[in-house]
Amino acid sequence: MYNVTEQFEKLKGRDDIVVLGIESSCDETAAAVYGGGKILSDVVASQVDIHKRFGGVVPEIASRNHMAALPDIVDEALKKAGIGLNDVDAIGVTYGAGLIGALLVGVSSAKALAYAANKPLVKVNHIQAHICANYIEHKDLKPPFLALVASGGHTSIVEVKGYNEYNLVGSTTDDAIGEAFDKVARLLGLSYPGGPNIDRLSKGGRNVIEFVRKKQVDGERISYSGLKTAVVNYIHNCEQRKESYDIADVCASFTAAAVDPLVEMVVKDIKKFKADKLVVAGGVASNSYLREKMRFAGKEHGFEVIMPSPVYCTDNAAMVAVRAALSAREGKNLAGLDLNPTGSLSIGGEE
Ligand code: KG4
Ligand code: ZN
Repeated sequence: MYNVTEQFEKLKGRDDIVVLGIESSCDETAAAVYGGGKILSDVVASQVDIHKRFGGVVPEIASRNHMAALPDIVDEALKKAGIGLNDVDAIGVTYGAGLIGALLVGVSSAKALAYAANKPLVKVNHIQAHICANYIEHKDLKPPFLALVASGGHTSIVEVKGYNEYNLVGSTTDDAIGEAFDKVARLLGLSYPGGPNIDRLSKGGRNVIEFVRKKQVDGERISYSGLKTAVVNYIHNCEQRKESYDIADVCASFTAAAVDPLVEMVVKDIKKFKADKLVVAGGVASNSYLREKMRFAGKEHGFEVIMPSPVYCTDNAAMVAVRAALSAREGKNLAGLDLNPTGSLSIGGEE
């Protein structure tokens, strides 16, 4: 009989909870162990090379590869941490947002492990986990603060009131910023994932092409779909006129057009909420231009800017384990074996 309520209760208030974290929401199969305030292991198997030839993530292929890779990844994470499954206090797993088939693999595996070892299962919201990646390297970081999540699926400003309290403050109107990077990269013939390639090429380019910034900002909300269309139109116009264009300049100009209004939006909210700290998270938080611009805005407007190292910006299970430990410490987010993943989970936890 699987009954872990009492065990879970005993974790309340503890800072030394040992958690096995599992992440499979997109194309990274990952497992990590967090304990005593430290990451004890962090294993990520990226499927990027498999999906590259399709120009993006193919959901069914992602699910199948998670299925094949996860058992070994979990084993490796436990081994590297120097512990066995019986030594963990809880198992944390991403249950949304993400690709539903991919999430099902991680959640089913986590359930099987929780049942077999009789351990509490903690459900983890992927977007909240991205924010929690910041606690790994910034030991003094404590809520409240404002967070910017810039990933392939989300561009959100979040008010983090406590370790388990997340309120959405603002987001973009349509596409997420990472999605825009990937779509523009594809248009330019760059391989998947486009973000890091655009970042690399931008360094040799100039911000000289104006991609209609005013139309892009709808009130306070940014339309990345509009920006992508502006890049498409620019390239088509060049082709029609049989003019060449400089890819590096397109990359640098697109990056500035994507990041600058986002920085403006963040500064507005920092002032509105009288926040003194901005925490940046998600895959696009590893973008060098965005990092530089955010740091500069912090200096100019007097707020502290906190960002993870690039390795903790993109998908990983260390952030999942940390998020789960913070839930368990406050007796929150215990899941039953009937846990069902949700593709479109919001930052606050609603579908
Ligand atoms: O957070 P993440 O790993 O997965 C999601 O939860 O979506 O974010 C992936 C996104 C992709 O769109 C990828 O192109 C983008 O992050 N990305 C970058 C960079 N590194 C990753 N975008 C711009 N510059 C980068 N250096
Ligand atoms: Zn992510």
